Amino acid sequence: MSESVQLFPGDPFDLTGKVALVTGAARGIGRSIAESLAQRGADVVVMDVVEPADTVEVLRSAYPAARFEGMTVDVRERAQVEKVIARTVDLFGHLDIVVNNAGTASRTGLAEFTDEEWFRDLDTNLRGTFLFCQAAIHPFMERQGTGTIINISSISGIMGGPTSGGDGGGRSGPAYAASKGGVIALTKWLAKEVGGLGITVNSVAPGPIATPLTVGVAYDFDQQVLARMGTPEEIGAAVAYLASPGAAYVTGQVLRVCGGAALG
Ligand SMILES: NC(=O)c1ccc[n+]([C@@H]2O[C@H](COP(=O)([O-])OP(=O)(O)OC[C@H]3O[C@@H](n4cnc5c(N)ncnc54)[C@H](O)[C@@H]3O)[C@@H](O)[C@H]2O)c1
Repeated sequence: MSESVQLFPGDPFDLTGKVALVTGAARGIGRSIAESLAQRGADVVVMDVVEPADTVEVLRSAYPAARFEGMTVDVRERAQVEKVIARTVDLFGHLDIVVNNAGTASRTGLAEFTDEEWFRDLDTNLRGTFLFCQAAIHPFMERQGTGTIINISSISGIMGGPTSGGDGGGRSGPAYAASKGGVIALTKWLAKEVGGLGITVNSVAPGPIATPLTVGVAYDFDQQVLARMGTPEEIGAAVAYLASPGAAYVTGQVLRVCGGAALG
């Protein structure tokens, strides 16, 4: 009989004492992820290309026992990424959880899709995720021998986006699907690469979620088991699970939080 390892003697979902970093957390899903981690006791560094002061203020007033900092960063800029990660470790002493959530979605149809839109979505969604993973792991998480990374992908990266709305009136474009498919592949590659260092890497793939990104987009719920938009809080809850000690044996996985839109 194998000996059981007591990884979590208390609540397996407790994040007290953990330091988390969330990108794209000025609004939308990122803000809910930051709140969800804070609710479970984590200190959170809120990052965004725009000043994320509102999110920090909300967190500080709701969770006075924890510590929150806001930092501006463009996830496409290597020097900025390396700087904010080093600053986080300087301020908090360690870095346990990285959530790559910042994202953009051009919705232009194929015929008019521009290079600028291609590079913006690929650079933000895929390369930004890569830069944060690289800079967090080497040297910080590697030195700690622990850490967990959660990359926000999308069911577009699995299914190629919804079938309808291909005229540019709502369907996310080719760069978005390609970038999110890339995030999923990168997540699996990294999980294999750094598992031996004590680091786990997973992805959450949301379906349609009500945020500023999807305002005015009409979804067809006929092919979705739970025929409604999801909420940012439902993505926050999934991320909190993957970030927790209770998910210590989970790596390289894509958790679809999509109302059953992507099955099989
Ligand atoms: N809303 C949905 O239906 C949905 C579905 C699947 C996946 N997602 C993914 O979830 C994530 C969050 O989406 P959301 O709906 O909250 O979008 P949102 O547009 O409401 O928020 C995205 C945030 O990312 C920030 N951001 C954009 N570019 C950045 C950059 N270069 N550097 C740093 N920050 C940057 C924005 O300022 C914004 O605060 C994205 O990765 C998105 O692709 C969303």
